[in-house]
Amino acid sequence: MNKNSTADFKVKYGPWALVAGASEGLGAAFARALADRGLNLLLLARRLNKLEVLAMELKADYPVEVEVLSVDLSDFDVVKKAVTGFKESFGLLVYNAAFAPIGYMENIDEENLGRIVDVNIRTPLLLTKLMSSAMIANRRGGIVLMSSLAGAQGSPKIATYAASKAFNRILAEGIWKELEKHQIDVLASCAGAISTPGFKKASTGSDAPGTLTAREVAEETLNALGKGPTIIPGFTNKLAHFFMNRIFPRKWAISIMNKNTKDLS
Ligand SMILES: NC(=O)c1ccc[n+]([C@@H]2O[C@H](COP(=O)([O-])OP(=O)(O)OC[C@H]3O[C@@H](n4cnc5c(N)ncnc54)[C@H](OP(=O)(O)O)[C@@H]3O)[C@@H](O)[C@H]2O)c1
Repeated sequence: MNKNSTADFKVKYGPWALVAGASEGLGAAFARALADRGLNLLLLARRLNKLEVLAMELKADYPVEVEVLSVDLSDFDVVKKAVTGFKESFGLLVYNAAFAPIGYMENIDEENLGRIVDVNIRTPLLLTKLMSSAMIANRRGGIVLMSSLAGAQGSPKIATYAASKAFNRILAEGIWKELEKHQIDVLASCAGAISTPGFKKASTGSDAPGTLTAREVAEETLNALGKGPTIIPGFTNKLAHFFMNRIFPRKWAISIMNKNTKDLS
């Protein structure tokens, strides 16, 4: 980033950002990209050791403060305590964590279906409400909710996860308009495949066309904040989204997704 745009970003969204789901993959890439933009960070995830190693690396590489907390994002009450008890208020929320069990719904138990709702819908919704109140009072801020191209149509074998990603996109688009008057920028990032540890565990074989690195997705997402309600990182993914949602009949789009997701395990 050049110095001017870093300074602008820090003024608009600093000095503290919260990254929910930051211990590895895309969340860790968001943390690094935000440290590069000069923001202090509170990083949340369950694995404290991973968070601590990342915090040490970021503090060695950038002149920022980094705090970490081990929390399970499926429990909003715990998350609320962590955020309201924190010494600073936040100018930016990046909600990155997701729970994505693979399988047909008939084979996923009630507990895990509920957990998808808690991690991917309930907590980002209530955290957005909580953190946007302070941002409204400050008349500035930013909110990034991670969505997915899987959420643009029905996606067999990850049906509930995909539906939760649709929720995040539609929520972000709605409050993008609502919060505009308070100078708060909201963005849904609708990513295609990203080569993260989570994705590699679930997929078999070689990367799908258009697969991006976590760094590429984090950078394109943060650069899009303040420019509109939605970003689809990567040219191939933008093209795929156009055909799947504007050209092909819905049935075709679902069948194409089915081809892509049937080998996930
Ligand atoms: N990877 C892809 O291909 C892809 C494609 C489209 C969209 N996305 C979206 O991008 C985001 C990140 O994906 P990713 O592949 O980087 O995921 P990931 O590798 O599974 O990492 C998810 C992060 O969230 C944390 N997390 C998960 N559940 C949590 C919980 N209950 N409480 C606290 N932290 C939790 C994990 O840390 P701990 O395990 O330490 O808690 C980890 O840091 C997700 O929202 C996903 O929907 C990913």
